[in-house]
Amino acid sequence: MTVHFVGAGPGAADLITLRGRDLIAACPVCLYAGSLVPAALLEYCPEGARIVNTAPMSLDEIITEISSAHAQGRDVVRLHSGDLSIWSAMGEQLRRLRALDIPYDVTPGVPAFSAAAAVLENELTLPGVAQSVVLTRTSGRASAMPSGETLENFARTGATLAIHLSVHVLSRVVEELTPHYGPDCPVAVVWRASWPDQRVVRAKLGSIEASVGEEVARTALILVGPALAAEGFDESQLYAGDYDRRFRPVGTQPRFPEGTE
Ligand SMILES: C[S@@+](CC[C@H](N)C(=O)[O-])C[C@H]1O[C@@H](n2cnc3c(N)ncnc32)[C@H](O)[C@@H]1O
Repeated sequence: MTVHFVGAGPGAADLITLRGRDLIAACPVCLYAGSLVPAALLEYCPEGARIVNTAPMSLDEIITEISSAHAQGRDVVRLHSGDLSIWSAMGEQLRRLRALDIPYDVTPGVPAFSAAAAVLENELTLPGVAQSVVLTRTSGRASAMPSGETLENFARTGATLAIHLSVHVLSRVVEELTPHYGPDCPVAVVWRASWPDQRVVRAKLGSIEASVGEEVARTALILVGPALAAEGFDESQLYAGDYDRRFRPVGTQPRFPEGTE
């Protein structure tokens, strides 16, 4: 018996991996975080599967559910939205399973920030403009931020920021970022990327609040940084015609002659 943790992707049912879909189809028990996991994925569950929405459950109740499947030798697929490596609450479940000696494995998913960048048709790391993406959030009722992880600190780097769980405090985000990025820095807010009702607002730091208006839906990402609207960036050296590299030796004395490892 194994608990298969699967990243369910950002919303569109066809943005789950093939491995994830096959695990759903193979497991007689499916636990899913109902707030963001699309119901369409549950259609892959085998007939007669036990399907449990964990949104209203406590960690103890979830572990009881898994322990009961373990006692019966029934595999479990555990679905969380996006990818499991960020804000999935997987860590605490894995710790409990280790303590109980219940086997598990992990299958990645498409994170929301990737889905949002795809909707925007933006590369978040442009040569000479931004070479880092910071995945962050602001503090919430359930989770305080470690003291060094302030928007201000991240903003000092000038990197592209993907700010999660924060659209409801957009004015605070704007206030903290403006001294570093300036009011003309491009911003995009993407609600429910890849869902049928996805919505996008593009503006500048100085105008984003007015552009967003009274929108209250919370499942949104705020993307900030010059890479979101840069046109005058350098081309990547990797694909430059005269750039000698292992997979495309160039010149009379290539650094990596053909046939070298
Ligand atoms: C609890 S976190 C889950 C993140 C998820 N594990 C991931 O890999 O993206 C939920 C937050 O992620 C963002 N989010 C999740 N799905 C989204 C989507 N489809 N479009 C925009 N933002 C999304 C929102 O900021 C939301 O408040």
